[in-house]
Amino acid sequence: MAHSKDTTIAFAFDIDGVLMKGVKPIPGARETIQKLQDLKIPFIFLTNGGGLTEEAHVAKLGQRLDLTFDKRLFVQSHTPYHDRVAEYADKTVLVLGGHGQQIRDLAHAYGFNKVVTPSDFFQEFEHIHPFPEMTRAYHLEHGRRHKAPLRDTKIAAIFVWSSPRDWMLDMQLVIDLLLSRGGYMGTRSSKNGDASLPNYGFQQDDQPKLFFCNPDFEWATQHEQPRFAQGAFREALCGLWAHATRNKAKMQYSVVGKPTEATYIYAEGTLRDYHSATHGTGSDNDNPERRIGRVYMIGDNPESDIVGANSYESRCGFEWRSVLVETGVHVAGTVPIHTPNHTVRDVREAVEWALAGGECGSNVNGEGEDREDGATDGSRSSVNGDVSGRSSSSNLSAVGTSDTSNVSD
Ligand code: G3P
Ligand code: MG
Repeated sequence: MAHSKDTTIAFAFDIDGVLMKGVKPIPGARETIQKLQDLKIPFIFLTNGGGLTEEAHVAKLGQRLDLTFDKRLFVQSHTPYHDRVAEYADKTVLVLGGHGQQIRDLAHAYGFNKVVTPSDFFQEFEHIHPFPEMTRAYHLEHGRRHKAPLRDTKIAAIFVWSSPRDWMLDMQLVIDLLLSRGGYMGTRSSKNGDASLPNYGFQQDDQPKLFFCNPDFEWATQHEQPRFAQGAFREALCGLWAHATRNKAKMQYSVVGKPTEATYIYAEGTLRDYHSATHGTGSDNDNPERRIGRVYMIGDNPESDIVGANSYESRCGFEWRSVLVETGVHVAGTVPIHTPNHTVRDVREAVEWALAGGECGSNVNGEGEDREDGATDGSRSSVNGDVSGRSSSSNLSAVGTSDTSNVSD
């Protein structure tokens, strides 16, 4: 459904750097979201954050903003992995990230029944961590002993679901398992390095499948400069993998989260279904006035929110548009690596602009748009001249390799 005067606009809000800075709401965020609730304008939250169930996460956001939200309008980095439950419900999976029992509980809540954490390995393998001084107490407190020893347990999948805390242990475990025979800790595959096999024999011996979410390299917190996010862990791991395989093999993995297409497909479905359910209107409803025409992605990170929205080709005819704010990763006065359809100071300005008509007048067909400061934004183009807005260094596909130039969507 192309945008027209008979359709409604909708929003997808990034959270960190748009609505929140660490635990603090960004000025104007609360009032802006409340206004949309009052006006019954459809929106979803689309964040690369994670580590809690959608229900718990949206409740936490609601608490911080002093508003109430339905869990159905929340899409976070690992939300698409609900679709993996059927495959791994009764296989043992290793989950990484977060603290305490947070990620174990999350994986159980999703429906994964056999979940282990790095701390569990620490409990059982006395010498698995060569430098445990700073984290021993933590792992001993939170690790669990399992009935069947982990040494005899096949790890079928590894999910990195939140930012790892003890990078050394987590990286060691992932590399160990990717080099193992069949996903058994303490083994090494004899196929590793075999030039006659695909990928030099690496990851050819029924090792666990590796799943990442949240490709963000950095994110906006209360610190002056952005901090490493989950994507930084993946980059570091790819570096170790390159060395461990003497640059012979690509690390094979899947990734979801913005800017991947998989996540935008999920987000769009969520927006459509939620809008249908709550307003009795969907993209094929009889009442054209409430059909969604255009979706504004409001984000602070050009390499996540902006390139994701620019690149996405809607499955149900929505027109996705990107709006970059200056309250997070993107710094006012600098040139973003991916050009948004529009740039504003903050979320309040973004929504006011969209409600006032947004690009209806000028920018739908890719022409530049005047900003208040006189600069010109391109539309559906990027600084490297790639009109699709795709980044040559971002992996936008659901399946990746450690070769970062590989953009296979
Ligand atoms: O860890 C969260 C962070 O990488 C980004 O969250 O809301 O900006 O997508 P968000
Ligand atoms: Mg953000």
